[in-house]
Amino acid sequence: MDKVTVGPCTLEERDGEMVSLTRWWREACAGTGRLVLVGGDAGAGKTVLVEEFGRILGDVRLLRGSSEPLTTPIAFGPLRDMAHSLSPPLRQKLTGPADPVEARHLMLDELRGGAGPTLVVFEDAHWADEATLDLLRFLGRRIEACPAMLVVVYRQDEVGARHPLRVLAGDLAALPVVRRLTVPMLSEAAVARLAEGTDIDPAELYRRTGGNAFFVTQVLGDGRATVPPTVRDAVLARAARLEPGAREALDALACLGTRAAPWLVEAVSGRAADDLDACVDRGLVAADDGAVAFRHELVRVAVMEAIPPGRAAALHRRALAVLGARPPGEVEPARLADHAERADDRAAVLAYAPPRGTTGIHAGGSHGGRGTPPPRTRSVPGQPGRGPGRPPGGTRPAVSSRRRPRRRPARPAGGRRGVAGGRRRPSAGRGAGRAGDHRGAPGPGDPAR
Ligand SMILES: Nc1ncnc2c1ncn2[C@@H]1O[C@H](COP(=O)(O)OP(=O)(O)OP(=O)(O)O)[C@@H](O)[C@H]1O
Ligand SMILES: [Mg+2]
Repeated sequence: MDKVTVGPCTLEERDGEMVSLTRWWREACAGTGRLVLVGGDAGAGKTVLVEEFGRILGDVRLLRGSSEPLTTPIAFGPLRDMAHSLSPPLRQKLTGPADPVEARHLMLDELRGGAGPTLVVFEDAHWADEATLDLLRFLGRRIEACPAMLVVVYRQDEVGARHPLRVLAGDLAALPVVRRLTVPMLSEAAVARLAEGTDIDPAELYRRTGGNAFFVTQVLGDGRATVPPTVRDAVLARAARLEPGAREALDALACLGTRAAPWLVEAVSGRAADDLDACVDRGLVAADDGAVAFRHELVRVAVMEAIPPGRAAALHRRALAVLGARPPGEVEPARLADHAERADDRAAVLAYAPPRGTTGIHAGGSHGGRGTPPPRTRSVPGQPGRGPGRPPGGTRPAVSSRRRPRRRPARPAGGRRGVAGGRRRPSAGRGAGRAGDHRGAPGPGDPAR
């Protein structure tokens, strides 16, 4: 479709990927839908690639949702993220116990419908719940007749041979609509360009990071002249320079997920808004739509790994108490069960987690490479629980909206990223896969958000 215009890409070494994405998007706009599998290692730059693609496309219908690493994944998690942009019937379904068959057909209608070409991004699909995987399987077989492009983003290093996403990709492989893209590490030349104007030795930076974009930007954002041996070291060095109160706020946020409402962090940590602001100033977290969010999931994992187990359990207990006191239906039971499990509160696990067999979602532990133990319970698909997330008593947001994250992360200022070290970044895969230290973003409207 010739009307598709694409501006310049601001990322290093991603012109080829942009050309491919643009070609497939044009085909989708012309009525031949596409399903694009975008893989790459943790921190390779998958998310910013797809974000940048959406940005340079400009004014298109973009639906975006993420999966998250809860021990009991929330069914249709990504669709719930998109809910506000979906048609009322489907939105309505997602607020109650969604019938998966009906939800799948309604989503197909969304993509067939007259709302114009649609770009649908499923982020972090390596954590996808079973209902979402079934949805992708269903849509993949029908997308050819839709003016839509589904982009499924996943960490290659988390998808082992028996991972459900690998199985799905195998099932879809023969379909003519499927395209694949692998996001590579940055070259030494690109790393050197990013390091221009800093005191860092670019060759050393490349040697240590292996061109992992997250690690590179994390090191450069810190403004030091030496390169830490691992991403984890880079993150923790930065966190270590926080005042104790700010560190407590940071630890509380790490237990709550990748993002949380500032009032919730304050309630769980017992710290003031200023402490959270200090974390923002240090470049570890950012204000994001009224919430605070880690600059990257890998930063959260590094912080989480450094919290002593007893203290982590205490923070989860506190999170459970605060969130459990919210009005019924406001917080996903799966989220409460997750905190209960990590706090080792058996009674609360039983109270909040729906019985086995009541949901269409798969066990988190079946994800190869994640190392997450099989959840003892599963959550009910579509169960209400993503409430308004208003701060009790109207507590003001801890972080000023002035400090919003940069939309274009091509340059490392402010620093993002973290975990894993060296070339293979083993701690990214390992740390990211450990139960109890790998929780993601709460759903929209959830106070944890
Ligand atoms: N091509 C690039 N040029 C410059 N910087 C980049 C590039 N790709 C990524 N970055 C930087 O690296 C960071 C990490 O990128 P991103 O969040 O997209 O990684 P990811 O592959 O999605 O990681 P994860 O698997 O953990 O979700 C970005 O915030 C950005 O600062
Ligand atoms: Mg990402």
